[in-house]
Parts: sequence; structure tokens; C-alpha cells
Amino acid sequence: MNSQLLDKLEAFYDLEPEIEDFGDAVLRGLSAENKTLPCKFFYDLRGSRLFDEICELDEYYVTRTEIGLLTDNTDDISKCLGTDCHLVEFGSGSSTKVRILLDAMQQSAGYTAIDISRDHLIASCAILADAYPGLPVSAVCADYSQALDFPALGASSGRPVAFFPGSSLGNFDENDAVAFLARVSAFLSKSDGGLLIGVDLKKDQATLNAAYDDAKGVTAAFNLNLLVRANTEIGANFDLSAYRHKAFYNAELGRVEMHLVSTKTQSVTIKGQSIDFAAEERIHTENSYKYSLEQFASICRDAGFTSSKVWCDANQLFSVHYLETS
Ligand code: AVI
Repeated sequence: MNSQLLDKLEAFYDLEPEIEDFGDAVLRGLSAENKTLPCKFFYDLRGSRLFDEICELDEYYVTRTEIGLLTDNTDDISKCLGTDCHLVEFGSGSSTKVRILLDAMQQSAGYTAIDISRDHLIASCAILADAYPGLPVSAVCADYSQALDFPALGASSGRPVAFFPGSSLGNFDENDAVAFLARVSAFLSKSDGGLLIGVDLKKDQATLNAAYDDAKGVTAAFNLNLLVRANTEIGANFDLSAYRHKAFYNAELGRVEMHLVSTKTQSVTIKGQSIDFAAEERIHTENSYKYSLEQFASICRDAGFTSSKVWCDANQLFSVHYLETS
């Protein structure tokens, strides 16, 4: 199947990203004094579907607000991108939001998608190539959160503009966020490129708490899916009814935290190892940092970017930034 799909692409680069073993990560995270599970493991097939459902929820303002900003400001954004722009998307998933940009631009030199999920990446890029005949579409299978071999990114034509929507930067801790942005800026500075990035803003606690603990329980199912995966993939025996989802805005640290809380004293066996839980003990599963415009401007400066343009919605929920290298 892949070879027919690959034929539709200008190029495919497989940087063969190292995929951390799920079982090792679970055992390491749950053996720590403060138990954790890495949020990157949310996105198996079921988790990705649940995340798509989250994006449609009334409470999760993030996706619709960002799409609204991109759609309402296409003229302005197109001017920043220019006519010879080669979009390079980090964590491209199904490559849906980039269509708003491609539709708005009269001409673009190419599109390169970077994602860790090889098959989904190739399939999504092939669909995009079909939808935009004449647009050179390349795919790079890589873990963009790690140091990347940027010359292999394939942005061989046009002026590269990195695209990083969805406030995915919020899931990096602050040092990692600056380090990631610094790597992107070093790559872009060689060719006078730019970065178009979506960043979620600080706001009232009630809005944030509801966005990460929705009434239908979709985010709860998304969080608990980590334990479902542990049971099905590595033979763990979590009693799913004995853990509950907890999400709250930690104002001091400027982030929404997600946890799984053990509702009673219990033990679980994973790969022959017994892990004990006290009643109310938590597994920390995700941080989603929220920025003020000033804070974001400051980390951009640290990473070697200058802000060229910012778009915000009327309620100041979300921001989209066009940054240039300084
Ligand atoms: C992918 N990421 C930007 C989402 C966020 O808002 O931090 C993940 C998410 N977690 C719960 N809801 C959505």
C-alpha cells in the first residue's frame, strides 16, 4: 500500500525515530516516588480518536478558536508567509489545519510534514497531495521533540516557514520549549524563514478546568486510556473503575495538570512487578502550559526569534504568532 502512496510524494525521509518502549516507560514512571506516565503515550489509535473528539467539545475552545483565527486572518497571514513559502509542519497528524493556509496562499513552493507515526504520515500526505495537485508534498518520519537532522527535512525549495499549530508547545516543560524553539530558529535562520505557531493563553481557572474535565467525560476517557493501553499491551491488571481522572489549573506553575487518582489502596502487577498505590495517590500524566503574551515573547527572544505579528480572538483565549529569526 505504502509504495502507491509514496509515489504521490515529492520525497519521503525516514529518520527512523527511536520509539521508547511503552512497557519500560510505564514501569519507570510508576516506580518513581511521584508516579508519572508520559503524555506522548496518549496517542494510540483509540487515544487519537478520543483526542479528535476532545477537539469538537464545547468546553475545549482551543481548536475552534485557533481555526477561527487562521480563517479570519488569512489575508494578513498570507502576506507574512509570502508567495515562495515552503510550509514545514511539526507533528502534522492528519494535515488538516494547513489546508486553511494552502487555500489562502496563491502560490506555495511546497509542504513538508514531520510526524512520528510513519503510516499515518504517509497516508495523510498522499491525501493532501491528491487534494493540491502541483504542490510538492514531502514527508519526514521523525520525532520533532528530539534534536533533528534539519538538513534532511526536505524544505529544498522556497523559503521555509515552520507551522506548529494546536498549542502543542504547551505540552513541553519550559526549558524543553525554549530548546525546541531554539532548534527551529537555528534551522530557519539559514534561509531567512519564519514560524507560524498557535499558543494557548492564560485565562480564568473555570474555563481551563472545564476544557480539561468536560461534562461528557471524553477527556477522562482519554486520560484513562493510558491504563487501558497498559492492560492490553503489556498485560497489566489495572482495575479501571478504581482510578479517576483529575484535571486542574495550577496557577502558580501556569499549567493545567492531568492526573489519574487511585480511589483506594491497591496494587497492580506489570511485567511481573507489583506496584502499590495508596488511596488518593496520583499518577501525573500531562502538563499543558498556558502563556501570557509577554511570557511567550520572552521565551521567543531566548530562542532567537522576534515576534513579527500576533493574532488573538476577541476573548483573548488563544493566540497565533508569526515569528522571524533575530
Ligand atoms: C495536544 N495538546 C496541545 C492538548 C492540550 O490541550 O494540551 C492535549 C490535551 N490534553 C487534554 N486535552 C487536550
